[in-house]
Amino acid sequence: MRSRRALLYVPGDEMHKIQKAIGLGVDSICLDIEDGVALNHKEQARGTIAEALGALDFGRSERLVRINPVGSGMEAEDLRIAINAHPDGIVIPKVREAGQVQWISDRVGELERATGRPDGDVILIALIETARAIVNLGEIVRASPRLQALIFGAEDLAGDIGAVRTRAGWEIFYARSAVVTHAAAYGLQAIDMVFLDFKDAEGLRAEAIQAAQMGYTGKQVIHPAQVGPTQEAFTPGAEEIAYATQVVEAAVRHQQDGRGAFALDGKMIDAPVVKIAEWVLQRARAAGKI
Ligand code: COA
Ligand code: MG
Repeated sequence: MRSRRALLYVPGDEMHKIQKAIGLGVDSICLDIEDGVALNHKEQARGTIAEALGALDFGRSERLVRINPVGSGMEAEDLRIAINAHPDGIVIPKVREAGQVQWISDRVGELERATGRPDGDVILIALIETARAIVNLGEIVRASPRLQALIFGAEDLAGDIGAVRTRAGWEIFYARSAVVTHAAAYGLQAIDMVFLDFKDAEGLRAEAIQAAQMGYTGKQVIHPAQVGPTQEAFTPGAEEIAYATQVVEAAVRHQQDGRGAFALDGKMIDAPVVKIAEWVLQRARAAGKI
């Protein structure tokens, strides 16, 4: 699976921002037709997205389109325009239940066939940002083989449950943990909430590091200045990689000597610690650090 350390939203009706986004070296670019676009600009966003996907070179950045929610009345046309423009994937907002993801998946399959793309080519990412989605996570993660990642949407969730958003985030902490846990249970990536205060680089860094420590593999971003610090937070540092390598190598040696638990630099190492070290190495490989 490709690395999605930062997923940058760009309003689909703003060609200038799209042109800016493709030069940032960001892992994923998400061209938005949903909440970043005014109701009277939806049509314009569809047209601009089709033009951008057809004409611009996105380099190594993934090309995603966020459609309007299932049931909004706009989703079918959004999807038709998007798939005709050959994106890498579709982001489905405000998912409430697995059936909605299945419906999109089936529709994507029909459009893939109609446009001559290989079956299963277009991937799906589900935005988990309603109370219903949290309750239905167990089914949503199994809704479609196209599904590669879950995104956690904190602002919408807070609105849905009547919570007040705070910097500490305890009001959304159960949901933030539930998303990463369900994603891990089914081999999906988990992409963390947006940090709205785009001028506060330190605040962003702290929240992104916390997300990485929770097991998140990436974070949504909304401004070019957030791309670098976010991608860095989800990339293991040289020291971390060196230590993880040491742990894994020592574990192999001790296994050969018939020992499951051993000491390294005064700390006990056994199977779960080795597994965490292996995760660090996997992230480092995905980010091209080894
Ligand atoms: N993608 C690409 N380029 C962006 C960008 C984005 N998400 N956000 C800002 N830029 C560009 C601006 O166009 C500007 O370019 P310029 O210097 O060539 O004029 C530059 O980066 C600096 O932007 P800045 O002036 O600091 O911000 P702004 O006031 O223009 O925009 C936002 C602030 C929040 C409106 C803007 O960042 C944005 O549109 N973010 C995405 C919003 C969105 O999609 N929300 C829905 C998902 S949560
Ligand atoms: Mg949202």
